[in-house]
Amino acid sequence: MEKPKFKTVQEVVAAGEGLLERYLHAPIGDGEVQPLNAAVPEMDIPAIDLNLLLSSSEDGREELSKLHSALSTWGVVQVMNHGITEPFLDKIYKLTKEFFALPTEEKQKCAREIGSIQGYGNDMILWDDQVLDWIDRLYITTYPEDQRQLKFWPQVPLGFRETLHEYTMKQRIVIEQFFKAMARSLELEENSFLDMYGESATMDTRFNMYPPCPMPDKVIGVKPHADGSAFTLLLPDKDVEGLQFQKDGKWYKAPIVPDTILINVGDQMEIMSNGIYKSPVHRVVTNREKERISVATFCIPGADKEIQPVDELVSEARPRLYKTVKKYVELYFKYYQQGRRPIEAALI
Ligand code: OGA
Ligand code: NI
Repeated sequence: MEKPKFKTVQEVVAAGEGLLERYLHAPIGDGEVQPLNAAVPEMDIPAIDLNLLLSSSEDGREELSKLHSALSTWGVVQVMNHGITEPFLDKIYKLTKEFFALPTEEKQKCAREIGSIQGYGNDMILWDDQVLDWIDRLYITTYPEDQRQLKFWPQVPLGFRETLHEYTMKQRIVIEQFFKAMARSLELEENSFLDMYGESATMDTRFNMYPPCPMPDKVIGVKPHADGSAFTLLLPDKDVEGLQFQKDGKWYKAPIVPDTILINVGDQMEIMSNGIYKSPVHRVVTNREKERISVATFCIPGADKEIQPVDELVSEARPRLYKTVKKYVELYFKYYQQGRRPIEAALI
């Protein structure tokens, strides 16, 4: 398979080429432009106890209502008590850092191929005059197991493959529990979303590296977007901030809460919940001194599944907002390319 000729951000920096035009965001309009790295307030989202969400106690009900309130406003929660131990999460962080610290030739063994989304590479170039994100990534489909393409799974650092497999299996439990909790928080039968999500659902894990950036005011780590998943599990860097969420047109930074998994609603969950749970627009800003890493897992409904608002959430008072969609991720890229919010395509 042909490997594309691209330069990762790490290579651009190492070559000392200065900042390429391709990463610079042109000022919008004539007025003063807010620097991309301007200080923003911290968002006020709760840490939710996953274990408690599944209990039928009084405390459990209270936790469900906290979940409901956070997902219907921000679309984001920090999940604690998720059953994945701190040493295990630390191993993921460590392996991620070790992978990106490898020599280019070693990383290129897992390089993305033309026409593929999986593998190691820079921001995908989807259109000609695209301003590139200041990010390198390793993108891997981890589930179902028969869809794995091991050529994209690093053999170095040692233990990467085994650990990613183990992480995938641990996340599956969290995913199932979180779907059940969301259903319960909307007073639905526990499996309402899981049934639609399907047995054939896919998990894609994206290891992200944001190298230090000489112009954090004009260069962005990840452009504003909402995720095309049902929801996304994110391990944000434990030391370096950068992730921001938008609410009512303003940006807020996500707090760093050790040992929690950040879960944000994606477009397909917004559709299934008939718009009650919001798929938030978010972005990543860059940092002049420090590199930042993160690990995102996208939970994507099976390609054979029709995704639509669950019947119980449609009523005269709350009419159906979204059409039935299938293979939403394909539609997602088409809209993304045009700089539009993909979920608009699903609106009735
Ligand atoms: C993403 C994303 C956030 C981060 O990969 O879709 O939003 O903190 N990542 O890297
Ligand atoms: Ni995202």
